[in-house]
Amino acid sequence: MRTLVFVVLFQVVFQIIFLPSSQCARLRPNDDNLIEQTCKQTPNYNLCISSLKSDPKSATADVAGLALIMVNVLNTTTTQTLIHINSLLLQSPRNEVKEALLSCVEDYKTGVLTADIPVSIEALTKGNPKFADQGTQDAANESNSCEEGFSGNSPLTVENTNINNVARVANAIVKLLL
Ligand SMILES: *[C@@H]1O[C@H](CO)[C@@H](O)[C@H](O)[C@H]1NC(C)=O
Ligand SMILES: *[C@@H]1O[C@H](CO)[C@@H](O)[C@H](O)[C@H]1NC(C)=O
Repeated sequence: MRTLVFVVLFQVVFQIIFLPSSQCARLRPNDDNLIEQTCKQTPNYNLCISSLKSDPKSATADVAGLALIMVNVLNTTTTQTLIHINSLLLQSPRNEVKEALLSCVEDYKTGVLTADIPVSIEALTKGNPKFADQGTQDAANESNSCEEGFSGNSPLTVENTNINNVARVANAIVKLLL
């Protein structure tokens, strides 16, 4: 009798502990699929996949979560570009290049890092993607403004193109939420 109670108890405990986690395990391939399905709807599939997979949280994220990860990648990319711009400014280049560099600092620091990114993160966190649509679109626009400031002689083409691509992928994911 004691043994029977023990066996039944064991089975109940076994089910409580192991069933939910085996369901979780079955969800993982679907989540990979969600990343692929989402990235197929962006202008840059490979950049989208590699950016999202760089964050382990993407394995369990919904579409809003994937958009947030992409906005974080935009934050990192823009922050690194600003560091690069500041190092170019220290090399005191010709005047008109220096002016264009300072205008890029405005675009990225004031426009993207202190406005577009916090606004987009708040919008996505609060389930109000419209403002994230504007924020990520504006970030892409700022990268164009920076590039155009050099009138065809930009030392930042690689960085600006990268920010533009990341921002447009983020925007395409945000648009899936509208
Ligand atoms: C953006 O990245 C910087 C540097 O990694 C970090 O300090 C900052 O908290 C990030 N901003 C947001 C809004 O996540
Ligand atoms: C970004 O630029 C496009 C094209 O010039 C424009 O239509 C759009 O309104 C701009 N978006 C934002 C948020 O500034």
